[in-house]
Amino acid sequence: MTAVQHFLTLKDLTPGTLDYLIRRAIHLKDKHKRGIPYAPLPQKVLGMVFEKSSTRTRVSFEAGMAQLGGHAIFLSPRDTQLGRGEPIEDSARVLSRMVDIIMIRTFEHSKLERFAEYATVPVINALTDDYHPCQLLADIQTFVEHRGSIQGKRVAWIGDGNNMCHSYMNAATQFDFELVAACPKGFEPKADIVADNAGHVSVVEDPADAVKGADLVVTDVWASMGQEDEAEARLEKFRGYQVSPALMDHATADALFMHCLPAHRGEEVSHDMLDDPRAVVWDEAENRLHAQKALMEYLMLGALTA
Ligand code: CP
Ligand code: NVA
Repeated sequence: MTAVQHFLTLKDLTPGTLDYLIRRAIHLKDKHKRGIPYAPLPQKVLGMVFEKSSTRTRVSFEAGMAQLGGHAIFLSPRDTQLGRGEPIEDSARVLSRMVDIIMIRTFEHSKLERFAEYATVPVINALTDDYHPCQLLADIQTFVEHRGSIQGKRVAWIGDGNNMCHSYMNAATQFDFELVAACPKGFEPKADIVADNAGHVSVVEDPADAVKGADLVVTDVWASMGQEDEAEARLEKFRGYQVSPALMDHATADALFMHCLPAHRGEEVSHDMLDDPRAVVWDEAENRLHAQKALMEYLMLGALTA
């Protein structure tokens, strides 16, 4: 129907474009740190639809758009017609008539796909039950800044086979690294997403097996947004999947630790893990800003060199 470029998963962009975005994010970060104003999106407006809570995603998109010279509008179901049952297709068509780019955080991935089908401006996945691709741009940027290319490296995912795990699997294919996920029985990633990334991904049960020889270790909460009712029961099932400095000692000597945040100390991470010198979670959080500026710029203006 339209040639608009969306970003619903990492598979929507080629490996070459993803590499460009990482380089561009690092470049925009440098410009920003040096105080060089760069506002290529004057008068442009980003619509931000949040059906789930957020700190990092909201602030990074809103600050990023302001820095690029544009404006962002926060929309939540609580105070828009989305919360009163206006069809997602109608909302997509109407918002597309008024803003230049839209990001959505919602539940079912299919809802995002339906929105994108009817939108006539670029749509960005700001997290669904199945994927969180924006976080991966920041994570890869962070790895590249600290250790250079991630190609050929080994990444260990520890814990729930959730939206972040699925996006790491897509990233393994697109950035050409090996992902080993250690998940408790019954909490493995979706089989079709594993199959889609065959050759780059394996799933094991023992966290120590996954971490052995890893260059990067990653975890996330044991109960994601929308799974609050299961949180208590999951505590028991995920015992043994906590990332701690001791678990990190199974990894390579210069391994890094990442977590998309928010973190639950004493659950998926030990109380001291985020303060360990191997943890780069604050850089990772900051890079949401730079990576998404590169993404929005690309979706609206294409690849740039200056
Ligand atoms: N990592 C992340 O997406 O954080 P928020 O839920 O705070 O946006
Ligand atoms: N898996 C988590 C990620 C939060 C950024 C969730 O979906 O709640």
